[in-house]
Amino acid sequence: MNNRSLPKVCSYWLFSAVMVFTVGALSNDVTDQAKVAACVACHGADGVGKADQYPNLQGQGEAYMVKQLKAFQSGSRKNSTMTTVVKSLSEADMQMLAKFFAQVK
Ligand code: HEC
Repeated sequence: MNNRSLPKVCSYWLFSAVMVFTVGALSNDVTDQAKVAACVACHGADGVGKADQYPNLQGQGEAYMVKQLKAFQSGSRKNSTMTTVVKSLSEADMQMLAKFFAQVK
């Protein structure tokens, strides 16, 4: 390695350190806003349904909601909209979302 490539190497490490820090900070965030955003169009940012056919989630039981999300995913509760929405959610996502809507005001 010659001296001219040193700044390059340094900036690479600095960039990596910043990325690791940023990703770490995001995954530690209790609420993943990007995932919540997928719900608010119907259920509202405050958990109050945007239209009659969308149930209110504000103040709904956390355990109840996790159970419903799992039921939509397994197909034991049938609703074509919600089945599509929950398809790619992990169990941790469901818990995070249920917690968010149980506490949102
Ligand atoms: C396109 C509109 C739409 C989107 C987007 C949507 N939902 Fe729903 N959701 C519905 C509808 C409609 C129902 C009622 C389903 C039924 O009749 O069984 C529902 C039902 C639910 C229920 C069950 C409520 C109850 O009282 O039993 C939960 C929990 C829920 N949604 C959570 C979510 C979460 C979390 C997201 C985001 C990942 C989300 N929904 C995104 C339309 C939507």
